[in-house]
Amino acid sequence: MKLRSAQWYAGEDRNAYIHRAWMRRGIPGDAFAGRPHIAIANTASDLTPCNAHLAEVAQSVKNGVHEAGGVPLELPVVSLGETQVRPTAMLWRNMAAMATEEMLRANPIDGVVLLGGCDKTIPALLMAAASVDLPAVVVPGGPMLTGTFRGAPLGCGTDVWRLSEEVRAGTLSQEQFTRSESAMIRSRGHCNTMGTASTMALVAEALGTVMPGTAGIPAPDSRLLEAAHGTGRLAVEMIATDRRPSTFLTRASFHNAIVTLAAIGGSTNAVVHLLAIAGRLGVELTLDDFDRIGSSVPLLVDLLPAGRFLMEDFHRAGGLLAVLSEVRDLLAADALTVTGQPLGDHLEDAPIWDPEVIRTRSAPLAAEGGIAVLRGSLAPGGALIKPAAASLHLLQHRGRAVVFDSIEDFHARVDDPDLDVDADSVLVLRGCGPKGYPGMPEVSNMPLPKKLLEQGVRDMVRVCDGRMSGTAYGTVVLHVVPEAAADGPLARVQTGDIISLDVANRRIDVEVPDEELARRAPSAAALAGFARPERGWQRLYVDHVLQADSGADLDFLVGSSGSEVIRESH
Ligand code: FES
Ligand code: MG
Repeated sequence: MKLRSAQWYAGEDRNAYIHRAWMRRGIPGDAFAGRPHIAIANTASDLTPCNAHLAEVAQSVKNGVHEAGGVPLELPVVSLGETQVRPTAMLWRNMAAMATEEMLRANPIDGVVLLGGCDKTIPALLMAAASVDLPAVVVPGGPMLTGTFRGAPLGCGTDVWRLSEEVRAGTLSQEQFTRSESAMIRSRGHCNTMGTASTMALVAEALGTVMPGTAGIPAPDSRLLEAAHGTGRLAVEMIATDRRPSTFLTRASFHNAIVTLAAIGGSTNAVVHLLAIAGRLGVELTLDDFDRIGSSVPLLVDLLPAGRFLMEDFHRAGGLLAVLSEVRDLLAADALTVTGQPLGDHLEDAPIWDPEVIRTRSAPLAAEGGIAVLRGSLAPGGALIKPAAASLHLLQHRGRAVVFDSIEDFHARVDDPDLDVDADSVLVLRGCGPKGYPGMPEVSNMPLPKKLLEQGVRDMVRVCDGRMSGTAYGTVVLHVVPEAAADGPLARVQTGDIISLDVANRRIDVEVPDEELARRAPSAAALAGFARPERGWQRLYVDHVLQADSGADLDFLVGSSGSEVIRESH
């Protein structure tokens, strides 16, 4: 077999000498002849707390690669800490994907092990791997253990939203709220709710890009290091058998990802990420596929934010393979995985150990777990809602719009006692799409007006062109396409317009005649707030980002450039 890295290292000429000599540093000379060189693309960073432990995971991958005869080479890549990075980690997902793709292509490697965890890191790595199309396998960094506060478990993210609303409602003291802070993050690992990180790790496994049985192992669990070791060995085998993303990431894999997303009650963010990954592969996938394939799949996993438990419980209860074996008949069981075996072959011995956490097919948490895709005069290009995280009584609703032109406008006015709003109102927030913010932040689940919280209101219909944290809940219509900054109808809605939501019929409409809506000028205050970056990444991003229904990738990053070796450096 001719290795890609041989195009750097083989031969006796000056250039091969240079490529080898600088790499020797303890690597024996025979490592450059016939042994696969495997990058470990590592998103470990002290500023990405959820991924800070990945150095140890990388060491286990290296051990496995060595053992199987490969040469492991750690490659630090752009890392994104969801809680730290402003204005939103999503603004940098495509940058991380682009930088990783280019460095994989530019370097003398034959394959790659991808180490991610926190929300955007696994999507960025998969987008990169899809576009460079070298043998690639993911090791998800794993969720953290369950923290407790005053005897009760705390769910990352979800309970921050819940507790802060309790402070605003006056049912929790500021002091108790602050005290819970030290209990929120019990251990290494990413958020332990069914937020975006847990969702993307599990969905990556359902796609076939993770060694089956690995996603969801808690970060501090020694079985994660064993899985990392095994993945190192597997990467060597994948190069020998030329198992590339384009050979196992097919439309059937995305079908399985969508079924999984629904059965686990996963984050709406997975929709944007999966659309972006599919776009890199040339796999045809549309927003409507999520509704068509996923909406009738039963919700089996009782995890926060839609349910009660946390990822440690999920793993104890049998994990992803138990869920998948429960919905096996809905899967494309013959879709291939990184192991070379179909997904279905990994579901033979995968029992549910705790049917409270992972429900059986005969007793689902909800008959329909998926994401509903809405269309209508307010979102001609589509919008999403996650019915399982919404309130039943609001799934069909008409109400007066209370419109906010930016998140700053929202914060300035939402708690004003004179704000003309009641429990039936529909809160509308614009300027939060990919172009407008920029980066499509997780602000769609707007906190409710304080005066309504005090009256006991706990949910309202909200509409926004942004995203919502995977750890959040509520009757929220999000990812509205086109966004206000792309001149969507959302830019022309006014306070007082009637908005109607009809999830059963998949509609989201503003009850204003089309001609009148078209005649109206876009809100001047909203226009003034849209991002207009002058230079740098933000400029490139705003000029080229696609709407949410295309995965919010950059137009020129869609597709693949392959792994062809680029011309010599000297
Ligand atoms: Fe990193 Fe939630 S903040 S996974
Ligand atoms: Mg998030």
